[in-house]
Amino acid sequence: MALIEARSIGIDFDIGPPWARRKLRALQDVDLSVNEGEIIGVVGESGSGKSTLGNLCIGRNTPTMGELLYRGRPLNSIQRKDRAGKFAAVLQHPKWSLNPMLRVRDSVAEPLQITGTAGSKADTTRIVGAMLEQVGLRADFQERYPHELSGGQRQRVSIARALITKPEFVLFDEAVSALDVSVQAQVLNMIKDLQADAGFSAIFISHDLAATRYVASRIAVLYAGRMVEDAPAESFYGLAGHPYSQGLQFASGLTDDEALELRLGQIDLTAKGCPLAERCPKVMEACRASMPQMEQRDGRRYACFAG
Ligand SMILES: Nc1ncnc2c1ncn2[C@@H]1O[C@H](COP(=O)(O)OP(=O)(O)OP(=O)(O)O)[C@@H](O)[C@H]1O
Ligand SMILES: [Mg+2]
Repeated sequence: MALIEARSIGIDFDIGPPWARRKLRALQDVDLSVNEGEIIGVVGESGSGKSTLGNLCIGRNTPTMGELLYRGRPLNSIQRKDRAGKFAAVLQHPKWSLNPMLRVRDSVAEPLQITGTAGSKADTTRIVGAMLEQVGLRADFQERYPHELSGGQRQRVSIARALITKPEFVLFDEAVSALDVSVQAQVLNMIKDLQADAGFSAIFISHDLAATRYVASRIAVLYAGRMVEDAPAESFYGLAGHPYSQGLQFASGLTDDEALELRLGQIDLTAKGCPLAERCPKVMEACRASMPQMEQRDGRRYACFAG
């Protein structure tokens, strides 16, 4: 059984001022299952719904359409106290997860307090010290404040904080995007090692296809709130199935085949066909008439008439 299974999930947000409320469909019709021990890379351009999907998977938001299951049960039917410590998130900016007023020890230990699993002070020092060592920091970093750390070190502390309760599922949302490329590679390798060690499942969100390649065994591609491809990393990085994924590969320099380039432009969400139709090099008549559904093709799923 999948650890997390999204069945046709979607969410509408109420946006606009109080006198002109309207709904924004940030995500729709997304099917995704995350198996135990699996890291799924989620890619797509800004506003495509990556963070929205991630937040639904860790129960921070509840889908307004479809069902999100955790071990076969609706996630929102599970009491908060029974979920505590099982889900964790590492975000782009450590300043969002690290309180500048707290020493590293207290930031890393806080989730233990929240879940009521903190022991004595000596125990905490020992457990936090061991966790810091796992993320490549000496135990004496416990005494420091976030401003005394480099960006890479702060992100290591955020990861230690996320993993201290031994979560089953971790959301990495642009977790390395703010770091220098050389530091990124170190942190990505570390995430891989930590996963192999602790066995958690994860969603690794990034707009950088090279970063997801390091850590993910499967890649899900979002476009305008819809999933357009879900493929094993090996076949995805050979050549993706969906023209949009291929366009992302071109944009990231993973291929130099200009025939795969996508024109930039407005997304027409009111179109009844594929929202990509006006940008796609492979557009056909059918694409403007209706939205293609996800279909299984040579071991991957993607939503394209032309494919
Ligand atoms: N809480 C919210 N209230 C209203 N609209 C929201 C909310 N969260 C996200 N949105 C909207 O939903 C859409 C998807 O946003 P989301 O943050 O998931 O995109 P993203 O793929 O993570 O983008 P980025 O790469 O910029 O982080 C956007 O149009 C965004 O403005
Ligand atoms: Mg985001």
